[in-house]
Amino acid sequence: MQQRSDRVIGVKLNGVGKSVPKQKVSNDTLAKWVDTSDEWITTRTGIQNRYLSGGETTTDLAIEAAKEALLDSGKKGEEIDLIIVATITPQHIMPSTACMVQAAIGAKDATAFDVAAACSGFIFASKLASTLIQSGNHKNALVIGAETLSKAVDWQDRSTCVLFGDGAGAVIYSASNENKILAIQTASNGEKGECLTLQGRPLENPYVKKTEEKEFMQMDGKEVYRFATTIVPDNIKKVTEEANISLEEIKLFILHQANGRIMDSVAKRLELSPDRFFKNLGEYGNTSAATIPIALCEAKETLKEGDLLVLCGFGGGLTWGSMVVRW
Ligand code: ACO
Repeated sequence: MQQRSDRVIGVKLNGVGKSVPKQKVSNDTLAKWVDTSDEWITTRTGIQNRYLSGGETTTDLAIEAAKEALLDSGKKGEEIDLIIVATITPQHIMPSTACMVQAAIGAKDATAFDVAAACSGFIFASKLASTLIQSGNHKNALVIGAETLSKAVDWQDRSTCVLFGDGAGAVIYSASNENKILAIQTASNGEKGECLTLQGRPLENPYVKKTEEKEFMQMDGKEVYRFATTIVPDNIKKVTEEANISLEEIKLFILHQANGRIMDSVAKRLELSPDRFFKNLGEYGNTSAATIPIALCEAKETLKEGDLLVLCGFGGGLTWGSMVVRW
């Protein structure tokens, strides 16, 4: 029986993990499949490699990342009472990826479900998890971003297939005396949803004849670029203001790894050095909901207790969100 408490409960980040498929794929390899080049991809996006599934599912990657995060936190699977997986490329719609993770780590009776907020999924799931911990309903939450976008892109379409990779990242949030999640702001704009789409299963029943739907991801790259470079600086200003932290106090900005040029433009608009923006998309490409927790795993070595971070996601929906975290 879970006990509610009247005292104010803080939340801290308590372990990180990641997982990518075995198969690493360079731009030169992609240039054998579609009419592109290492030079075009590198200069337009900053991506040099990505990992593509050779059979690993979203569930497999999520479970591996979860196990690594558990090891990092020193927690046991049975201590986890909330699991939220952010994904738009689940292996199954039902059971959810989160339920499969629950079974694999032995988180008996945990509340487990998936959320779909595209590349903002990790921030949206983190907001849910921290709010549920602060409410006293849960103590230890596992939040995972996991994707196999390679199954969602058209491998004939050079304008999208070069951008994405497969992978998962996991974070454990725990109830704490000291609150280390200083602010989270999320928002959506469905009116602009058409600029980044991925169809679900089409309607088909005795009344409705199945129609031909575009089954792969469609993207208006220029519109997405405009959206990201205007919304993200504004969102980062708002969330740091809410946390009462100045931009100068932030040790590292970890943005969704969509495109190096987007990050450089955000840095410029905020009048900050681009060196303060973590980049690992050269190695992993855009893994949607997984980019931020994978980046956290890699940035970990450079972080000291007390360092302040801004995490920021943006993507399909359209959706966006940022959080300020004390490491
Ligand atoms: N290789 C070579 N040439 C290409 C490729 C490719 N992979 N893709 C497109 N081109 C060509 C186009 O056909 C076009 O040729 P044309 O001039 O002869 O017609 C030319 O390159 C320029 O195409 P644009 O689409 O105008 O290229 P742009 O400079 O806008 O860059 C890009 C495209 C990188 C996608 C850019 O718009 C962008 O970064 N947008 C942001 C979108 C993004 O990051 N999406 C990630 C998913 S969404 C998310 O995570 C939030």
